[in-house]
Amino acid sequence: MVQPKYHVFVCASCRINGTQKGFCHSKGAVNIIGRFMEEIEDRDLSSEVMVTNTGCFGICDKGPVVVIYPEATWYGNVTEKDVERIVEEHLENGNKVEDLLI
Ligand code: FES
Repeated sequence: MVQPKYHVFVCASCRINGTQKGFCHSKGAVNIIGRFMEEIEDRDLSSEVMVTNTGCFGICDKGPVVVIYPEATWYGNVTEKDVERIVEEHLENGNKVEDLLI
């Protein structure tokens, strides 16, 4: 994969010193990242989609936060249950998941 079709950034509350403390991390961000990896693998999207954990986006009260490029789509209050829907609707079919938009 040289340049992915989609790049999924999941806030894992990483701090500059490397620790993970913060709202998104405490609300299951690591498991959300794992679910994205599973869904992408299961749907054979690894050559098109990259997932990266990030530091705080500064909107912790809306976390866990997921941002998808190239559209710069911001999703908030994402749970593990939402991941399958995001992958299917957004990454496979190109439609935003309206009720998760922030
Ligand atoms: S910790 Fe995720 S937006 Fe701040």
